[in-house]
Amino acid sequence: MTLAGRTALVTGGASGLGEACVRALVAAHAAVTIADLNEAKGAALAQELGALTQYCRTDVCDEADVLAALDEAERVDIVIHCAGIATAERALGKDGPLALDRFERVLRVNVIGTFNVNRLAAAMMVKNEPGPDGERGVIINTSSVAAFDGQIGQAAYSASKGAVAAMTLPLAREFARFGIRVLSIAPGLFRTPLLAGLPDEAMKQLAATVPFPSRLGEPSEFASLAMHMIENRMLNGEVVRLDGALRMAPR
Ligand SMILES: NC(=O)c1ccc[n+]([C@@H]2O[C@H](COP(=O)([O-])OP(=O)(O)OC[C@H]3O[C@@H](n4cnc5c(N)ncnc54)[C@H](O)[C@@H]3O)[C@@H](O)[C@H]2O)c1
Repeated sequence: MTLAGRTALVTGGASGLGEACVRALVAAHAAVTIADLNEAKGAALAQELGALTQYCRTDVCDEADVLAALDEAERVDIVIHCAGIATAERALGKDGPLALDRFERVLRVNVIGTFNVNRLAAAMMVKNEPGPDGERGVIINTSSVAAFDGQIGQAAYSASKGAVAAMTLPLAREFARFGIRVLSIAPGLFRTPLLAGLPDEAMKQLAATVPFPSRLGEPSEFASLAMHMIENRMLNGEVVRLDGALRMAPR
């Protein structure tokens, strides 16, 4: 799918990987609705980028919120779903077993949120006029390398990102008859506000664990893969690691 003139919904678009995708889409002359919980950052980004963007306060787990964001977008050709949360908590910590509601929250935002956005966006995409090959839309979700090599303390996060990876193929198979592609990106370590809370030394140590290039990924590199996925129709049903060959150690 070509980018210019398309309409996109970017969840988690107010920050980090999502923000980089919003900037790349606008640079390619696509219109973007930023669907994010963070009103201050979302509205400021939409204002900075101007007429091609709008912000819609959205909780991706909430049906009415996502429907309202899709409604504001009016049509949707592209979804890049970056909204998500990361946690690191042991299943059996020094205070005892992890509270179930903490586990459930991660699953809710990362799994239910992803499925909610996929199902509602697909229902809108089916109304699009088909393009070459009968294509009507493309959805890109965000998994993580933690889906495959989760560290100690990542049981909840890994389970949630594993679920995002696992739903990629069945959704792609199901939506194929509508001409809608579904893909996931599994990022390694990227320089976003998600990691920004870490001290410099911890960041350096993390970067040193990446074989090559031995540094944190830049959000623009994530966006660049997402843009390629949109443009390359043969990519479908796949989870692509973007990680500089990182395989995370147990802890
Ligand atoms: N940064 C990394 O190294 C890395 C690595 C692997 C996977 N990821 C995944 O990439 C995605 C984006 O992460 P990031 O690093 O850009 O983080 P970030 O914190 O910079 O951005 C996440 C955005 O999602 C929004 N959000 C959170 N919950 C939401 C909800 N319920 N509804 C709507 N918006 C919500 C936040 O407001 C924020 O703007 C996440 O799913 C994260 O798990 C990040």
